[in-house]
Amino acid sequence: MPNFPYPLKIKPIEWLDGRVRWLDTRLLPYEEVYRESDDYERIAKAIEDMEIRGAPAIGVAAALAVAAEAHRYKGSSTEELRERLIKAIDRLSRTRPTAFNLFWALNKIRATCIDSDIASAEELRECVIRTALSIMESDIRSNMEMGRNGSKLIEDGDVVLTHCNAGALATAGFGTALGVIRAAWYEGKRIKVIATETRPLLQGARLTVWELRKEGIPVTLITDNMVGYVMSKGLVTKVVVGADRILRDGHVINKIGTYMIALCAKRHNIPFYVVAPTSTIDIATPLKEVVIEHRSPDEVRYVLGKLITVPDVDVLNPAFDITPPELITAIVTEKGIVYPPYDQNIPRVVSQTR
Ligand code: MRU
Repeated sequence: MPNFPYPLKIKPIEWLDGRVRWLDTRLLPYEEVYRESDDYERIAKAIEDMEIRGAPAIGVAAALAVAAEAHRYKGSSTEELRERLIKAIDRLSRTRPTAFNLFWALNKIRATCIDSDIASAEELRECVIRTALSIMESDIRSNMEMGRNGSKLIEDGDVVLTHCNAGALATAGFGTALGVIRAAWYEGKRIKVIATETRPLLQGARLTVWELRKEGIPVTLITDNMVGYVMSKGLVTKVVVGADRILRDGHVINKIGTYMIALCAKRHNIPFYVVAPTSTIDIATPLKEVVIEHRSPDEVRYVLGKLITVPDVDVLNPAFDITPPELITAIVTEKGIVYPPYDQNIPRVVSQTR
């Protein structure tokens, strides 16, 4: 394990010499169950069903799934291996449409290895595995760098509101928004966190609370509709959230409910920070072409397996919303803190990495 500047207590995704191991986040906080597979189809299902979720985690898991396919191939035909890898990438890219890290990771493997002029199956296999492992390790490193950068924005005594789960469980480890909170805590700042429960799938209540309690960081859980009240009472000093996709002009696509929180924060003059690695930044897609994932209506009709409404009621279930740049105080990346004007500063930070 490489040397990291902060402790890495939760490893939600691992590579076990050809197999991918992951913590099934659907079962948390009740049960800590790890799953394992070397079959990209099984890993694609795990992403679709949200055993693995969170933009960076999805990207890392997909990269490792392609690596598992490379590892499984015992033949010597470079062309046959290329075809199998492209098939795996096609399948994995159809799992969830919004998180940009998925496409970033799959494109990186494709550009570095599959579309290169590598001539032997052995070399191609090694290239894919090496690239996938570097995607995983650089995700953890970026999270810690974002932690270090973002903790400068957090002061002793802050009460930080966060939404959904942008923690270790949404990444290869340490987390983005929760990485900033963790880093500030490790640096000795006495902070408190308010976590929103995050309906419909309760990532805040189930995952963020679980992670923060494991660290000993004080956390208070609220339902999503309490944000306005707690802000109006002066109970929140900063908002820190993650992102699934950031556009070149600073639009942030993140868990449904983020936009509402950003509006409330603006009304109450509370700084609203987004924390995401540059692998979340999509400089090519215009806003009108972004696909917002709509999930099964039953996620809204049921809570933890219990029907809470009339069974056939019409439901809307967009998984993400879009926060416009004017509501965002700053975006924390592993390359530094990006401030407005985003349309100038985001392309600049991305050009340092690609
Ligand atoms: O639907 P999910 O649980 O995959 O959504 C996750 C989020 O919206 C997170 O806030 C985002 O991926 C950032 S995670 C570091």
